[in-house]
Amino acid sequence: MNARPTSIFLGITGASGAPYALRLLTALAERGCSLSVCLSDVGVDVVQHELDLPTPGRAAVTAQLLERAQAQAEAYLPGDLAAPPSSGSAAPDAAIVCPCSLSTAAAIALGLTETLIHRVGMVALKERRPLVLVPREMPLSSIHLRRLLEASEAGAMIVPAMPAFYNRPQTLDDAVDHVVGKVLGVLGFTHDLYPPWGGDGA
Ligand SMILES: Cc1cc2nc3c(=O)[nH]c(=O)nc-3n(C[C@H](O)[C@H](O)[C@H](O)COP(=O)(O)O)c2cc1C
Repeated sequence: MNARPTSIFLGITGASGAPYALRLLTALAERGCSLSVCLSDVGVDVVQHELDLPTPGRAAVTAQLLERAQAQAEAYLPGDLAAPPSSGSAAPDAAIVCPCSLSTAAAIALGLTETLIHRVGMVALKERRPLVLVPREMPLSSIHLRRLLEASEAGAMIVPAMPAFYNRPQTLDDAVDHVVGKVLGVLGFTHDLYPPWGGDGA
């Protein structure tokens, strides 16, 4: 990739991992990115549950998420397939799906566009723009693995929500930061969300 993206679409689907999306929003806002977000229908419920947000419902959950992240973003409905990011002519510089359900990963790999998140993912691939998928499921079936391979072969960067322990995370936030730092890294952003490996185990 030549330049760091400045406009970024973040799809948040119904996989476990809302803290990753929250931290990512903050990190991208801190980097001055112009953000658009789309929560899938199940994503709304999972975000509310995992972040223990007081008020349910799409509008309230989106507002609480952005407020907690201290981020501003244009929010789109998953059924709004005519939204600007869905067109290659207005597509963001990069798209991220975090967390990414294996259902959405499969849809993108297969070129299905039932939601705006699928469509933006598909557009990123056809336009050869960066697409980062942060899948989370356990265990993975061979169906999941095949779809992730297909997405990767089509150009997506697969950054699984797999925190590492070699940097000795002390808190859950440290583990979240490891995954978010990896997402930032593949998009060309510098960060200090986890210390670089020094080779001495420290
Ligand atoms: C609480 C909760 C947690 C879930 N966690 C996962 C998960 O970690 N990974 C996954 O692929 N699906 C998970 N699912 C299932 C997806 O939400 C489901 O497949 C959904 O259809 C995905 O649609 P979406 O990609 O449009 O959000 C979870 C569902 C719920 C309700």
